[in-house]
Amino acid sequence: MTTATARAHPNIAFIKYWGNASDALRLPVNPSISMNLDGLYAETTVTWDEALPADTLRLNGKDEAGPALERVQRHLHAVRQHLRLTQYARVVSHNNFPTGTGIASSAAAFAALTVAAAGASGQAVPERALSTLARLGSGSAARSVPAGFVRWFTGDSHETSYAESFAAPDHWALVDVIAIVSDQHKATGSQEGHPTAPTSDLQAARVAGAAARFELCQQAILARDFDTFAEVVERDSNLMHAVMMTSRPPLFYWLPATLALMAAVRRWRAEGLRVCYTLDAGPNVHCICIREDADQVRERLWQHSGILEVRRATVGGGAALVNAG
Ligand code: DP6
Repeated sequence: MTTATARAHPNIAFIKYWGNASDALRLPVNPSISMNLDGLYAETTVTWDEALPADTLRLNGKDEAGPALERVQRHLHAVRQHLRLTQYARVVSHNNFPTGTGIASSAAAFAALTVAAAGASGQAVPERALSTLARLGSGSAARSVPAGFVRWFTGDSHETSYAESFAAPDHWALVDVIAIVSDQHKATGSQEGHPTAPTSDLQAARVAGAAARFELCQQAILARDFDTFAEVVERDSNLMHAVMMTSRPPLFYWLPATLALMAAVRRWRAEGLRVCYTLDAGPNVHCICIREDADQVRERLWQHSGILEVRRATVGGGAALVNAG
């Protein structure tokens, strides 16, 4: 019996992943860029145990059955194959942020699960291989393995589709001030959403321009050029949501408060605050700002109606083992 515990942060994408070239392997149709969110994490302990008849999952203090367990079992099956293991695993995991607050938990969950599973095997698995493995559980989990500002290449095979860091967490003092406008579980999760992407007439155009936006965003981060960064981040988010809204069936994630906040963020930027918005597959608005402006942004957010909660995260490190035994 061997055990290990790992922690991983969720991440927020600046250039979005939406649509797969292979749903089975989670090979994305476009490259993406994100930063890890410090302070928020999933912590997962994996114990490989010869005596277990099947993988088990305890999540936030509750034994899981059904779809959550099945997704973890599918992932552990892939991990077993890659690491040539035969035992089943006991998985105990918790998030320090509530699920259903619109902060994507699958990226942190599958990054922590992968790093803990590899750690408990006693094998020294390189970061790139951990990223590819995490990707099989949730695409965006590939980006929660490396530290700081991260790019995920599309690749054209399991081995070539990995994420890596291109700037350390202390490279640029960005803060994600997250305006929670709904705590409802989303109707259509990313997993069900990705296959609908090609049904939008706009997806081909979004994908065709993705490499250029990826390059522009990466250069803007490296140069700490907030104006260029803000423009391309908002445009990329708008493009993804345009695809979602024009898919069959259409996916509308925005609430009235979402649109009001997007307009407010643009207004605040015109007034001199260094802030821009980006949205994942949900209605909550991630306000990405320079650290000096984060308090102002938070105060202004609270003056809006429809805000349930405001959370704040700086740039986080990569997924890492907490201990190994
Ligand atoms: C809108 O990684 O959550 O957040 O691979 O099915 O788990 P699965 O999807 P997921 O998709 C993320 C979509 C997004 C954009 C992004 O994070 O790049």
